[in-house]
Amino acid sequence: MTITHKLALIGFGTVGQGLAEILLAKGDELADRYGVRFQVVAVSDLLKGSLYDPAGLDLAALLDAARRTGKLHDYADPRPAREPQSGWDSLRTIRESNADTVVEISWTDVQTGQPAIDHVKAAFGSGKHAVLTNKGPVALAYRELDELAAAQGVLFRFEGTVMSGTPTIRLARSALAGCQISQMQGILNGTTNYILTQMEGGQSYADSLAEAQRLGYAEADPTADVEGWDAAGKAVILANVLMGGDLRVADVDRTGISGLSLADVEAARAAGERWKLIARVWQEDNVARASVRPTRLPLSHPLAGVSGAVNACTYTTDLLGDVTLIGPGAGRTETGYAVLGDLLEIVREA
Ligand code: HSE
Repeated sequence: MTITHKLALIGFGTVGQGLAEILLAKGDELADRYGVRFQVVAVSDLLKGSLYDPAGLDLAALLDAARRTGKLHDYADPRPAREPQSGWDSLRTIRESNADTVVEISWTDVQTGQPAIDHVKAAFGSGKHAVLTNKGPVALAYRELDELAAAQGVLFRFEGTVMSGTPTIRLARSALAGCQISQMQGILNGTTNYILTQMEGGQSYADSLAEAQRLGYAEADPTADVEGWDAAGKAVILANVLMGGDLRVADVDRTGISGLSLADVEAARAAGERWKLIARVWQEDNVARASVRPTRLPLSHPLAGVSGAVNACTYTTDLLGDVTLIGPGAGRTETGYAVLGDLLEIVREA
């Protein structure tokens, strides 16, 4: 038997389109393997417009409209006599659509976490599960949102906030559930790791940053990357979600990489070491703490060999010692996959 799990996508940018492409390509395979078919019933995007069809929208037509004009009113449903509702705003879509899960992937203000926090609250208030990929709302309001979801008997998942689809949170919560994790050390920002790798090849800091921007790794304001704010937000999520912390980004002892020169990189190389921007989360007197700082690692360290825009995370555990996970930390398909992993978990656990 195959069940249908209905989705409302709040936002239809890179991540939403990445998810739609995955569902289009793998819909039959997911139905065969897991007995579930994910059906997008609604899309609401501030710039592109909105559509709602309680019986499901056509994914290829949605992607086609996004590609052709970027406007959902150009959506042409190939099936006869289908007239999706248009013009619903995000909150109406969340509250009144027949979705089982709201996928919150809109543009979010990282200072306030809005409007994503209100979107997630509205989803819980109307009995819907929520998945999101923007770190702001989780870094700012994890505890409140988690308690609200539990009170409403719905699920809240956000794997894509740290290392995109590389299952950092899921590894700790599920596969390492029987272990105590005493520390996490990670390379959680691809832009800075890319810059440091390029500098090892002799390229200047400024040229390496410009290249990271051109390749699309960097945040809109790259200060968030190079000064360690992005990594600090991710460290806060891991501290609060995995170690019972109650940290804010301002609580993270944070230094970025903008003070590192080619001479510093060369000095480390001559000593058989490498600079990495290391995010660290640990317990001290039963209180979670976090830091982000450039660190010289010996080449034998598992994180020293992680080059380019790749991310990695080492959990130190009581029963297994160190467990290291290496994988992509950003990207259209990679973050779309983070949402898919969360959706499959919701279907299994709900
Ligand atoms: N700017 C981020 C990075 C993107 O470089 O890792 C993913 O959060």
